[in-house]
Amino acid sequence: MAFPQAFLEELIARSPIEDVVGQYVAMTRRGSNLFGLCPFHGEKTASFSVAPDKGIFYCFGCHKGGGVVNFIMEIESLSYPDAVRFLAKRAGLEVPEDAQYQSRYRQQERLWALCKEAARFFHSQLYSPAGAEGLQYAQKRGISRTTLTNFGMGFAPNSWTGLLDAMKKKGYTEQELLDAGLALRHQTKGTVYDRFRNRLMFPIIDVRGHVIGFGGRVMDDSTPKYLNSPETLIFNKRKNLFAMNLAKKTKAPQLILVEGYMDAIALHQYGFDCAVASLGTALTEEQVTLLSKYTSQVVLIYDGDEAGQNATRRAMPMLEKAGLQMRVLRIPNAKDPDEFLKKFGPDRFKILLEDAENQLEYQLQALARKFDLSLPDQKVEFLKAAAELLATVGNAVEREVYGARAAEAAGVTYEALKLEISKAFKRRMRREQKKQEKIDLAPAQQLRPKSRTIRYDNLRSAMAEEGLLGLVLREPAFLDLVDVEPKEFSCELLGRCFRMLMEQHKAGYQVSLASLEGFTPEESSHLAGVAQKQEGPVKEEALRDYMAVIHRQYSLSQTTQPNDLMALRDAMRDKKGYNG
Ligand code: UTP
Ligand code: MN
Repeated sequence: MAFPQAFLEELIARSPIEDVVGQYVAMTRRGSNLFGLCPFHGEKTASFSVAPDKGIFYCFGCHKGGGVVNFIMEIESLSYPDAVRFLAKRAGLEVPEDAQYQSRYRQQERLWALCKEAARFFHSQLYSPAGAEGLQYAQKRGISRTTLTNFGMGFAPNSWTGLLDAMKKKGYTEQELLDAGLALRHQTKGTVYDRFRNRLMFPIIDVRGHVIGFGGRVMDDSTPKYLNSPETLIFNKRKNLFAMNLAKKTKAPQLILVEGYMDAIALHQYGFDCAVASLGTALTEEQVTLLSKYTSQVVLIYDGDEAGQNATRRAMPMLEKAGLQMRVLRIPNAKDPDEFLKKFGPDRFKILLEDAENQLEYQLQALARKFDLSLPDQKVEFLKAAAELLATVGNAVEREVYGARAAEAAGVTYEALKLEISKAFKRRMRREQKKQEKIDLAPAQQLRPKSRTIRYDNLRSAMAEEGLLGLVLREPAFLDLVDVEPKEFSCELLGRCFRMLMEQHKAGYQVSLASLEGFTPEESSHLAGVAQKQEGPVKEEALRDYMAVIHRQYSLSQTTQPNDLMALRDAMRDKKGYNG
């Protein structure tokens, strides 16, 4: 049977593939993908991948793949409709069987279709006589034709029933227009009329590509500046971000979060295709969740005014709590990104974006605001906190520039602050060292083989051996640079594996764990684990570090043992006739 599209989409949205698959397959994250051992064919290395952003799974080994429903069909041996029912049960969704077909889902589909038609209508108005003013206004705001098309922008004509009439002709009812938030009913007369009139229209499109609502801007200074769709069956502004439908395709490592429709549009037009805007509300938890689905890094650029700065302060902890890396960008000499781009161009904006110093300056300012600097003890507290912050800056010049500014803000000399900074610096170094020691040891403890047949006698060396294997598996060319001998490996298994990889490489075969033979299942699993765990960047530097550790640990193991050393010393003492 055919399920309503709207139901299927909701089902899939509520059945994140990583969660569903995660109940059957243990996976680890590598970049934006998760990898695990394929449940559909026997394999030793993890070639089974899940891409949460794409909503798919794929096995590079047996080439099975598909969406979450395919996965359930395959693993539970279910037919398509039964797999859907299975997932619905898991997600707590009611399955709309035939009798229920005329349900909420059907209505949702109608509203999506209606909003899409409405967007088409508004867009076409731009290029009709009725929309001349709208097009002119868009041009005045520097919006290119391409941008008008990319964003599906439009114009709502200055009439009471322009949209209503056009949509009725397409077979939509007045009730449906009311339900979509596109029309209003007159309170006394009872007549129905267009909500959006004489406005430049910005369709709001969700990540699945459905037009779900609109924002409409006046073309003068009248209020409200923007009129937005109300909450409807298909539009929940807490759950959506403007331009996310476009930004989700970006190659940029981050998403830029701005306040205004116009800011997002200008950014896209100037090539920053990773910009999204909140929908005229304070950032919501749902929006943060949406952001974190597509990126791990957010650049927050709110307007420079009081409201914008307050919004920034509210948004920062929310993004941080969601584990997103966050930078705050302050736009100098312009009220918002749109104005900045128009005044100074995209190159200047790019510099701004790359300029991490802004973050430091922002943090210092935010810090200064937390204290009442007219009180002496608050001043001291501020300087201590500022020094802690400045001690994290590696560059001496930057430290001095920002330090001087912070000192000035607190009304003390830079010398006084400098002293604090160097104290904080030392404290930090001590902390880092402790942390590093922990890191050096902690993973080793976890990495200690679980099995009894595989032992790590020298953890430090074994760690480096694992790292080295991980590197050459990812970059076989590194094997040409390796100057350690298999016998230098502290772990027999890792050394044997290394020797075999080296042989593969020298013989001109593809270097891979998968094609190695002669390991017990236990050994293979362990080696797969070693290969899977390696995540750091593939750098020659890392290779050299690993080799140095292996050499050193090996030579230590070959030279005099501590006990021998003591015997030697004793012997020498005796020779010298040392008698205390
Ligand atoms: P802004 O006033 O900064 O809008 O409000 P903007 O996008 O920069 O517009 P221009 O440049 O003045 O044309 C930020 C956002 O707040 C919401 C809109 O989403 C807007 O983009 N807003 C603002 C409303 O919903 N209604 C309003 O009346 C004003
Ligand atoms: Mn603006």
